[in-house]
Amino acid sequence: MLQTDNLIPDFINKQITQAVMSLRSGNVVAFPTETVYGLGADISQPQAIQKIFEIKGRPSSHPLIVHFANLSELEFWAENIPATAWILAQHFWPGPLTLILTKSNHIPLSVTGGQETVGLRIPRHPIALKLLEQLGSCKALAAPSANRFGFVSPTIADHVKNAFNDKIEVILDGGPCEVGLESTIVSCIDKDVTILRPGGISVLSIENLLQQKVSVKSQNKIRTPGSLSSHYATATPLEICQSSESLFSRSFDLLQQGIRTAVITRSIHLIPMLNSNDKFHYILMPNDPVAFGKDLYATLRKLDDANFERILVEAPPDDLEWLAVADRLSRASYSFTSK
Ligand code: TXA
Ligand code: MG
Repeated sequence: MLQTDNLIPDFINKQITQAVMSLRSGNVVAFPTETVYGLGADISQPQAIQKIFEIKGRPSSHPLIVHFANLSELEFWAENIPATAWILAQHFWPGPLTLILTKSNHIPLSVTGGQETVGLRIPRHPIALKLLEQLGSCKALAAPSANRFGFVSPTIADHVKNAFNDKIEVILDGGPCEVGLESTIVSCIDKDVTILRPGGISVLSIENLLQQKVSVKSQNKIRTPGSLSSHYATATPLEICQSSESLFSRSFDLLQQGIRTAVITRSIHLIPMLNSNDKFHYILMPNDPVAFGKDLYATLRKLDDANFERILVEAPPDDLEWLAVADRLSRASYSFTSK
């Protein structure tokens, strides 16, 4: 468990106390996690859960992740916990891992979209942990990412403010999220361990810990709306170019057609003759999956706000370490490439 007290300034501690009061009165509050910002509600208050779905514009059949603070409470929230789940929880919590387990009676069906399974996670951000600890023992927060349904998740408090300022009493500001992509969702329901959403913890580190291969399902039978292809979309159509050469030639094509284009690349350090201007903008992202993932959503949002007509992205390497980034980019590009 992280020691949260020394890490949080006094004025934030006051806001956390305010947030706890707001949660106890049945309101929704936004808070930072190490992955993305979440919209939290006390799971024991049905109207508060209802508010999450309303504010996000999310269908109430879509299950929410339940966040709690202490590993000792895992058996309070879940039943029939397999040994692999304990190993994963002990190693990666607090951290960007969500475990799908059989729910206990303490988890209302309104949180799980009517399913008998629940997504559980202990987040690592000190503000999230302090909020959960102050809420009390055997209390938990259902918290989806704090974005409107289908859009890019927020990684700074301003992203949340821009979307929901009028609808949420308290938005706790914990600065930019350390990971920047959502948690890795791992189903431990059957004997097999299955990754339902790649994320902040890599497949390789899970396999290394468990000393076994795990399967990765992008289109799974278990309902995970986050795995619908059009999720995480930008408003600007986003196109993936498979190589730096195709990125280069596509940029020229679009510019010749007069289409205002933004380009995200990892490897082309200079695009000769194409300087950034109001018709063309060029961003060199880190050629490292963790650093790329951390900046991805904020970069997509900036480009969306800058009113480009097209975003071109150089495809990430076909490599397990890049899986979470590749997953989010392919979902963001879907609405364009499917037309
Ligand atoms: O990093 C994260 O996980 C962030 C932060 C705020 O913790 N939360 C987040 O929540 O990404 P959300 O609601 O945006 O995405 C949760 C995903 C959805 O795709 C949902 O379908 C899946 O988790 N999920 C939740 N409960 C599930 C269950 N019982 N079975 C299968 N999938 C589940
Ligand atoms: Mg989400």
